[in-house]
Amino acid sequence: MDVLDATFLAAATALDQLPAPTFAEVAFAGRSNVGKSSLINSLVGRKGLVRTSGAPGCTRSINLFRVRLRTEAASEVHLDLVDLPGYGYAQRSKAERRSWGPLIEGFLQERPGLRGLALILDVRRGIESDDSQLLEFVEHLPMHPIVVATKLDKLAKSKRKPAIRDVQQSIGRPVWGYSAATGEGRDRLWKRILEVCSVNAEASRS
Ligand code: GTP
Ligand code: MG
Repeated sequence: MDVLDATFLAAATALDQLPAPTFAEVAFAGRSNVGKSSLINSLVGRKGLVRTSGAPGCTRSINLFRVRLRTEAASEVHLDLVDLPGYGYAQRSKAERRSWGPLIEGFLQERPGLRGLALILDVRRGIESDDSQLLEFVEHLPMHPIVVATKLDKLAKSKRKPAIRDVQQSIGRPVWGYSAATGEGRDRLWKRILEVCSVNAEASRS
């Protein structure tokens, strides 16, 4: 996958600050510090496009990035990738935590053009209760969930496939393995993203 161009588009802390949707969008959600922003940087191949941090709660707004791609079929495609604030971080003030739930839920519910939700999990921790709640929440929305188990590089090579299989079994749906540190899983995840955006092939709900 050739990423020809990747630019920051907008940041919003309220739904009415969002720019009008233009291209197909895929959002990235998950617990604080799980590696959402790093994953977007790795996907687009631009280290500093999205701010990342070792301290949880780094991303506090909905951030939109526009990418221009050349697909394997040599066509050019525009997509918008959406980095969502992480949930489940207890150290934030209560008011701040409360403000994120409705922001994320409102975005997922009301955003026309949103084709996929990539739910990012730490492969070592698997799915936790707030992740399951989010999966249930999007179940009836018109978008494809893509579950991604990241930080694969933190496991020994021989443990990676079994760990992904375990997560897959526990949630009963396919899981895409990833490492933002090494780029492992990048081609497969791009393929799925393009599928859910109906760019390459007709996507099947999974
Ligand atoms: P919030 O914005 O706070 O919700 O966090 P986030 O989910 O965007 O996480 P972020 O990308 O900022 O990464 C958190 C920490 O995990 C950083 O120290 C990253 O360097 C590290 N990290 C993210 N992905 C990987 C990975 O695939 N492998 C390794 N080894 N470290 C990673
Ligand atoms: Mg982040």
